Amino acid sequence: MDQFTKRTMAYAGAGLGALWIVKELTRQKRSFSFKGKTVLITGGARGLGLVTARHLAKAGANLAICSRDIKALEKARNELLQVGGRVLAIPCDVTNRVQVESLISTVASHFGRLDVLINNAGIIEVGPMQEMRFEDYDEAMNTHFWGASLRHHRCPSPFAAPVPSTHHQYRFFRG
Ligand SMILES: NC(=O)c1ccc[n+]([C@@H]2O[C@H](COP(=O)([O-])OP(=O)(O)OC[C@H]3O[C@@H](n4cnc5c(N)ncnc54)[C@H](OP(=O)(O)O)[C@@H]3O)[C@@H](O)[C@H]2O)c1
Repeated sequence: MDQFTKRTMAYAGAGLGALWIVKELTRQKRSFSFKGKTVLITGGARGLGLVTARHLAKAGANLAICSRDIKALEKARNELLQVGGRVLAIPCDVTNRVQVESLISTVASHFGRLDVLINNAGIIEVGPMQEMRFEDYDEAMNTHFWGASLRHHRCPSPFAAPVPSTHHQYRFFRG
């Protein structure tokens, strides 16, 4: 092999190595660990909220789940405890301002922090148009719209660890 070929191959190898390092650093920067983070999932007692909770429990998050049905909450909590980690189950109607205030402060004082809010609680009303009542729409709007405003309640910033987020100190997910 002549000198030119050797040098070209060495440069190509170094280039590929540098590319791999850059890709690896970018991947690590993008990844986010839930280990030890406190995550509040509204409507976490069943459905998509519970599925999310199972994943986060496996990922090592401290979980707080809420819903209106105490029995469903307890059942979900027991199941999540089997996966591991710490789980707090709190009865709360997200349309009720007072209950939401209490929910936030209970989570923050129990875990000492609140890092992630997953605003999942919601209701899906399905039926023929002529059968639907005003109250059905009203309830859905109250849950989805005002429930979503949970983040405006005092998520106590002193409890929050800084997490990488482009918009807020907290990360928000809507159902
Ligand atoms: N499943 C879908 O295909 C789909 C599609 C698009 C969007 N979504 C949205 O994804 C979210 C979860 O859907 P899902 O299918 O998992 O629903 P789901 O099985 O009915 O579960 C909804 C959860 O929210 C809770 N919840 C409802 N109203 C609440 C309130 N006022 N306060 C506190 N908790 C409340 C329910 O518990 P309690 O009733 O006991 O309070 C339950 O734990 C909803 O926001 C839904 O609109 C779902």
